[in-house]
Amino acid sequence: MSKQPVIADNKPAKVNLLKDQEYYFCACGRSKNQPFCDGSHAGTSFKPLPFKAEKTEDAYLCVCKHTQNAPFCDGSHKQFTKDKVGQEGPGVNSNAS
Ligand code: FES
Repeated sequence: MSKQPVIADNKPAKVNLLKDQEYYFCACGRSKNQPFCDGSHAGTSFKPLPFKAEKTEDAYLCVCKHTQNAPFCDGSHKQFTKDKVGQEGPGVNSNAS
């Protein structure tokens, strides 16, 4: 069973969130509909992260799947080069101090 998220890209996705709408953020990195879940986590240890938008706004959501502030980008993608995209990463807490 896969334990680490796949680095779906090494940059965040800008999305227009709508106030009070519920979204399912892909945590596994396997979705073809990034940054949202498409059910591809089936068979992994991952589940999507449900969240409700607090306001209507453009937001940068994490696509590298290594943010410490899911679903939002925290800059963690900067550790990954393009050749890491599509591979399993080191895990979200691996660089926590
Ligand atoms: Fe990644 Fe569902 S497809 S969490």
